Amino acid sequence: MIEMQDVYKTYPNGVMALNGINVRIKQGEFVYVVGPSGAGKSTFIKMMYREEKPTSGSIMINGVNLAKLKDSKVPLLRRHIGVVFQDFKLLPKLTVYENVAFALEVIEESPKNIKKRVMEVLDLVGLKNKARFYPDELSGGEQQRVSIARSIVNSPKIVIADEPTGNLDPDTSWGIMDLFEEINNRGTTVVMATHNREIVNSIKKRVIAIENGKIVRDEAKGEYGYDS
Ligand SMILES: Nc1ncnc2c1ncn2[C@@H]1O[C@H](COP(=O)(O)OP(=O)(O)O)[C@@H](O)[C@H]1O
Ligand SMILES: [Mg+2]
Repeated sequence: MIEMQDVYKTYPNGVMALNGINVRIKQGEFVYVVGPSGAGKSTFIKMMYREEKPTSGSIMINGVNLAKLKDSKVPLLRRHIGVVFQDFKLLPKLTVYENVAFALEVIEESPKNIKKRVMEVLDLVGLKNKARFYPDELSGGEQQRVSIARSIVNSPKIVIADEPTGNLDPDTSWGIMDLFEEINNRGTTVVMATHNREIVNSIKKRVIAIENGKIVRDEAKGEYGYDS
């Protein structure tokens, strides 16, 4: 359901970040993307929610080629792909509840149903009792939980995450990984760039390693495979 064919990406400054990517990710898979700094992991991830366009090649997601998607259609795409970042990217002036509700695609939903859905996802991430808090009143791990709640509030088929535990201590990171596993167990595809060796080596999933813009390894239940 995610398929990249011959994807190349050269940034305007001349850096070639992706150098011929071919990959297929099926619905319901959990995929780690690993590799050294500067390898192209974030660029690879950005292709999937059209934060960047490829220089050439196609990126099919559920039958839509993101390389050709009109800019005006990007907001709609984003509502159907959850995205989680290393630095959370919450809106500081909105409460936890509002940050999640803000992302909810509201189609003829009654206020009651909106509230129900937002509280449902806040419950899932363990933050129902902090709905009225502001982001700066939360720990890093809690902020990441809010951002995960926001990413799934529209029940997307895909959640992609770029170093979601990169700013968190090890204990907190395990809790965040439990959440991603739970989301994946409910049928959602998860694609996650990470540098967290312990997590990759203990929660075994498919591992795609990228180096110099190319996929150099792609293994079911793979290992992290780098020394640092
Ligand atoms: N917006 C950009 N403009 C120019 N070069 C970029 C941009 N984003 C990333 N790069 C370059 O592309 C390469 C891959 O970067 P990135 O995808 O962020 O790698 P990773 O996430 O694996 O560290 C690096 O050389 C980086 O400096
Ligand atoms: Mg990166």
